[in-house]
Amino acid sequence: MSHPESYADVFANAITDPDGFWGDAAEDVSWHRAPGKVLDSSSAPFYRWFTGGELNTCHNALDRHVDGGRGDQAALVYDSPVTGTVRTYTYAELLAEVALFAGVLRGLGVGRGDRVVVYMPMVPEAVVAMLACARLGAVHSVVFGGFAPRELAMRIDDARPAVVVSASCGIEPSRIVEYKPMLDSALDLAEHKPGSCVILRREQAPATLVPGRDLDWHEAMAAAEPAGCVPVAATDPLYILYTSGTTGKPKGVVRDNGGHAVALLWSMRNVYDTAPGEVFWAASDVGWVVGHSYIVYGPLLLGATTILYEGKPVGTPDAGAFWRVIADHGVNALFTAPTAFRAIKKEDPSAALLAKYDISSLRTLFLAGERLDPDTYHWATEKLGVPVVDHWWQTETGWPVAANLRGLAPMPIKPGSPTVPVPGYDVRVLDPDGEPCAPGEEGAICLRLPLPPGTLPTLWQDDERYVASYLSAYPGHYLTGDGGHVDEDGYLFVMGRTDDVINVAGHRLSTGSMEAVLAGHPAVAECAVIGVADELKGQVPRGLVVLKSGVDADPGTLRDELVRLVREQVGAVASLKRVDIVPGLPKTRSGKILRKTMRGIADGADEPVPSTIEDAAVLDLLRPVLRSRV
Ligand code: COA
Ligand code: AMP
Repeated sequence: MSHPESYADVFANAITDPDGFWGDAAEDVSWHRAPGKVLDSSSAPFYRWFTGGELNTCHNALDRHVDGGRGDQAALVYDSPVTGTVRTYTYAELLAEVALFAGVLRGLGVGRGDRVVVYMPMVPEAVVAMLACARLGAVHSVVFGGFAPRELAMRIDDARPAVVVSASCGIEPSRIVEYKPMLDSALDLAEHKPGSCVILRREQAPATLVPGRDLDWHEAMAAAEPAGCVPVAATDPLYILYTSGTTGKPKGVVRDNGGHAVALLWSMRNVYDTAPGEVFWAASDVGWVVGHSYIVYGPLLLGATTILYEGKPVGTPDAGAFWRVIADHGVNALFTAPTAFRAIKKEDPSAALLAKYDISSLRTLFLAGERLDPDTYHWATEKLGVPVVDHWWQTETGWPVAANLRGLAPMPIKPGSPTVPVPGYDVRVLDPDGEPCAPGEEGAICLRLPLPPGTLPTLWQDDERYVASYLSAYPGHYLTGDGGHVDEDGYLFVMGRTDDVINVAGHRLSTGSMEAVLAGHPAVAECAVIGVADELKGQVPRGLVVLKSGVDADPGTLRDELVRLVREQVGAVASLKRVDIVPGLPKTRSGKILRKTMRGIADGADEPVPSTIEDAAVLDLLRPVLRSRV
């Protein structure tokens, strides 16, 4: 086992000699043309990695392994309790599918740099579509299936795709979610009209194809010729992934090809302690960054086997589902969100169902996406008997910022802490004046520039917003949006967002987008959405609305209507179940709504009343509403 000293050395090396450190890591990637430069600071603060280099990410994820003798090894196992299907794709089979679908896209005119929006459930074709884009040098933008047409339309208008790839439906335990009608209405709403849509028709729901625009996946595949890999610049975009910011407009996080491949490969070995040929399971969704990095690219770049699970931790069919998948496929590392374990613990508190399965293949449980509460940490540790590793990162970074580096230098675990900064990330906790906080003192968690490879170089066609959102608060630093502290031993503690982004069941959502929907209702004068603590989901949103004077609607009907509107316009995943009609909202004298104060009160904290409050009586009136849980 390595010693923590080696962590300190490696960490220092990555910061003081990024060229040497990442130059060495880049040797694990297969380059069409070797990079001329490792870190390119010529356009700082827009740092670039591996300029001059050319590669193809799909080649590195598939062809390279087939050429190297892994053709018959399982690349992807699709395990779908909701359809009763288990299907294994070897590397050779996955490559054949991807090359063919790349041929479909090429036939539709998609080439290097063109965008393709993928709006799909957890089916292998989603992975095939992503890798096919990478093969052509096209840029995919996957939109999570739980988002509603309006959200999809916003992303289509920003990414301006040549093609949309979708499916007739997704399958949730309680219902079939018809994707195709949602896609159709998104395309009606969007100003940008893609040339074609390729639709995977699943037997659980029919889909009506629009003649001249929509193609059936299988028919298109039957008629296609396989396409080869198109080498692209290391700095060319591989994908855009939209994530929630504080406003209703999602941020288009850009990922490049070269830095991404180098960083993910490095993380698979050093953070996740996974070797080629081992089985890695990220129980997430391809629509989130965890799915991009650790269902699709990380394991495949490494030559591991990845699991694509179309099911839930509970209810498909029971709270033993995760143990069943681990046992059936010999999973070595599982990565999921704490909320999944809270759901299992709630249904099966003694983990009695574990006795039915042999999960001895499992070496490590990795958890991220939201704060890991100590109860869940202790429960998982006790029941599984393997290290439970909290680690912290975000869509923007694409791979872990702080972790217990299981492959490089495992360290003692402190519950509540994702351990230490990962080499490459110069984590600083800053006070409001930009000065470093003392150990134990809370501040804004920032990353000193440059960020390591694999992190966002900018926002899609919006350099200005990139600088304004991330780089302007503390010059020379990237603002993560999370607050926390570092303890005397250098362990990081992440306490939560300092902005209006919330985390619902490990899903990152913007209160701003929900507020935009509530504010759009003709009866609403003003509104606020806050995230309040929830035992299962970590946080859930709650809406507070003030009605326009003279509005004489039945409060119950209006509340239901507002809940329904958010579900229809943001998506079921928002899980907004409660809206209260209130006489007023507490504000500062300059008119800013005191969301943080309301959130604290709702969570039962002894929240101080800010000195800047305009009218403390408004807040007093709200207290009982905020505290009530019914
Ligand atoms: N397509 C369409 N609808 C979706 C969807 C998808 N891909 N994913 C979720 N939804 C819907 C659900 O059906 C549900 O709708 P409902 O209000 O009609 O019940 C709603 O969105 C909320 O879904 P979810 O957040 O999954 O809550 P849940 O109550 O159905 O399940 C958990 C709770 C904890 C079991 C579930 O959140 C879970 O498995 N979380 C794992 C965490 C995770 O994957 N995080 C990703 C980051 S690592
Ligand atoms: P996303 O961009 O969807 O991955 O969400 C990122 C956000 O989730 C972070 O900014 C944090 O607020 C939160 N988060 C992710 N992992 C952790 C963790 N291990 N501990 C605390 N918060 C986390």
